[in-house]
Amino acid sequence: MISVAAAVIAYLIGSISFAVVVSRVMGLDDPRTYGSGNPGATNVLRSGSKAAAILTLIGDAFKGWVAVWLAQVYAYRLGFGDTTIAVVALAVFLGHLYPVFFRFKGGKGVATALGVLLGLQPWLGVATLATWLIVAVFFRYSSLAAIVAAIFAPIYYVFGHGVAWTADSRIGTAIGLMALMLLYRHRQNISKLMAGKESKLGKRSPPPT
Ligand code: G3P
Repeated sequence: MISVAAAVIAYLIGSISFAVVVSRVMGLDDPRTYGSGNPGATNVLRSGSKAAAILTLIGDAFKGWVAVWLAQVYAYRLGFGDTTIAVVALAVFLGHLYPVFFRFKGGKGVATALGVLLGLQPWLGVATLATWLIVAVFFRYSSLAAIVAAIFAPIYYVFGHGVAWTADSRIGTAIGLMALMLLYRHRQNISKLMAGKESKLGKRSPPPT
């Protein structure tokens, strides 16, 4: 029962779309109306406001981190096991992808996944973030960086824990599922990348007409 309550709370936390909230508070256009239409930091950056993009990134990552952190803190007090922590990790991520507050139309999950990884295992979050940064700096595509980082995160996890242990790991399963969902949410970006039509990181988008 407590696990279900934890998952619902995590889902609700994940459903707060910082791209929409930050843009609204800062008087910017709704990110769902320009660029890729994605409510995420990369698209908010296309508004021209670096501050809004950074706040979106921090907010979306923080919600992933705090949900997992809370689950881990209460794991000791209430006797949660790995299953609850894994379910919370997935629930906050799913909240971002399919937010109840925004008609289930959410973002692609990159910043929230980063927060979740940092909450689960800081070294894994840092390694995944470093992967994102390296690809982003070299290729200037945020989506490509996210795709490569999503592929590498489960690999880093397996290397960090060993294949035998990982096979039995609910946390490892959650990380694998998160990576698959993230890749699925980037299917349009993958098509655009292959067609050479993906927009480069930081390129401004014309305002909505
Ligand atoms: O964080 C999402 C990013 O990987 C792609 O965003 O707006 O270019 O579709 P976007």
